[in-house]
Amino acid sequence: MFRPSSSVTQISRPFRAKLRRGFATVQDPPVHHHGGLKDQDRIFTNAYCRHDHGLQGAKSRGDWHRTKDILLKGDSDYHKDSGLRGRGGAGFPSGLKWSFMNKPGWEKDPRPRYLVVNADEGEPGTCKDREILRGDPHKLVEGCLVAGQASHVQQAITEAYKNGLLGKDACGSGYSFDVYLHRGAGAYICGEETALIESLEGKQGKPRLKPPFPADVGLFGCPTTVANVETVAVAPTICRRGASWFASFGRARNQGTKLFCISGHVNNPCVVEEEMSIPLKELIEKHCGGVRADGTIYLVSYLVVAPCPFCPSRSAKKSCAMDYDSLKDAQSGLGTGAVIVMDKSTDIVSAIARFAHFYKHESCGQCTPCREGTTWMMNMMDRFVEGRGHQREIDMLLELTPHAPLPPEVEKRITAFRDEHGPVLFGGRLKSQTDPTLAIPDNLGANLPEVAPPSTSA
Ligand SMILES: Cc1cc2nc3c(=O)[nH]c(=O)nc-3n(C[C@H](O)[C@H](O)[C@H](O)COP(=O)(O)O)c2cc1C
Ligand code: SF4
Repeated sequence: MFRPSSSVTQISRPFRAKLRRGFATVQDPPVHHHGGLKDQDRIFTNAYCRHDHGLQGAKSRGDWHRTKDILLKGDSDYHKDSGLRGRGGAGFPSGLKWSFMNKPGWEKDPRPRYLVVNADEGEPGTCKDREILRGDPHKLVEGCLVAGQASHVQQAITEAYKNGLLGKDACGSGYSFDVYLHRGAGAYICGEETALIESLEGKQGKPRLKPPFPADVGLFGCPTTVANVETVAVAPTICRRGASWFASFGRARNQGTKLFCISGHVNNPCVVEEEMSIPLKELIEKHCGGVRADGTIYLVSYLVVAPCPFCPSRSAKKSCAMDYDSLKDAQSGLGTGAVIVMDKSTDIVSAIARFAHFYKHESCGQCTPCREGTTWMMNMMDRFVEGRGHQREIDMLLELTPHAPLPPEVEKRITAFRDEHGPVLFGGRLKSQTDPTLAIPDNLGANLPEVAPPSTSA
């Protein structure tokens, strides 16, 4: 919570302006160092599949231990008190979200209620849920049971049914709970919760308008919670070890442990569970063996709908904390905890063009600005790679996507291309290739006055 301290009121105005933050942020706590999660505090103890992923192995690691007691206790405040925020990207408080299913008078609603666990994971750079599905599937299946009050998951479900852990009288608690595994076909948009529901209903995976929200009208018109694999899989451990244990990790409002997926130009790309708010630099150096080559690095972390803007190396040096609020302050976002590191050898314009291809390909096409805009962006970025662009097209691109992380490199390429080939029309055609006897409208860009080059002093 934002609480102006008395010391802030005493400091000078410019300093105060620097410290001012939006409502969604918290003040930096003064000293506590985050990171260095101890093995005994790891929730995912088989994320690397080194041990038995089956029921016996899971039980030996503490899964399914007194699950009946957790169910009978029925204390939904655990997840609110633990500070758990959804690990699917948006970071919505999970305890609050799950409580929407129990609105006053819910007992009188005869409709079945669904928990949909989102294992779509189509986001570039995100590869944490698959490690849970492979190595710790029982944590997820048990998590479904607790939160509901692809690989090894089907095996875990079958084993749980055979052992009376799921079904009519789950764990002997008198509580009926069924789990079905449904495979998706790989479309990124089917990770969006309402598109996921549509696709489960057998329709085209296209998002629905909200409201109504899934908690009111979800799967087959019934109350539904959609939650990420990781969010659900941590639920039983929180119940077992206590909300305050989970909340003891990370900064205020950003509590818990988290699976981070670090890929790209690091020496040891990995998925690792760490304390929330661990400094980015420490995460990369301790678990990934550092960045492959020194020099400028770009870090891309992902939010659900669009890539969070690139964090330039300066943020890494400042060691921003890996949590929702800190990355929001750095004009990026934690998203799913995926970090793609690119070192100075990266052709950053091509890299952005590659992302533009991804988003164009994955647009479900039902909204015109997205369908057309992603195609425009992709085409422009493809031409920018070569430098075959018009200065003013940079502004057009920024109009389409104000957060586009366009590097000054784009300007350089355009200038170099024009020096060699002469003026370029909007759309990439060279002025020299046009017929001067025809009336070329100015809006194709060739006859527009030049835009002043950007100041290089910044
Ligand atoms: C385009 C798009 C793709 C998404 N993909 C995923 C995904 O693969 N996995 C996921 O858990 N959430 C994904 N989400 C977020 C879901 O809509 C939803 O917020 C999330 O599953 C809720 O789970 P949580 O509360 O545990 O975070 C996506 C959202 C959008 C807009
Ligand atoms: S067209 Fe784009 S913005 Fe619209 S629902 Fe589909 S993916 Fe989302």
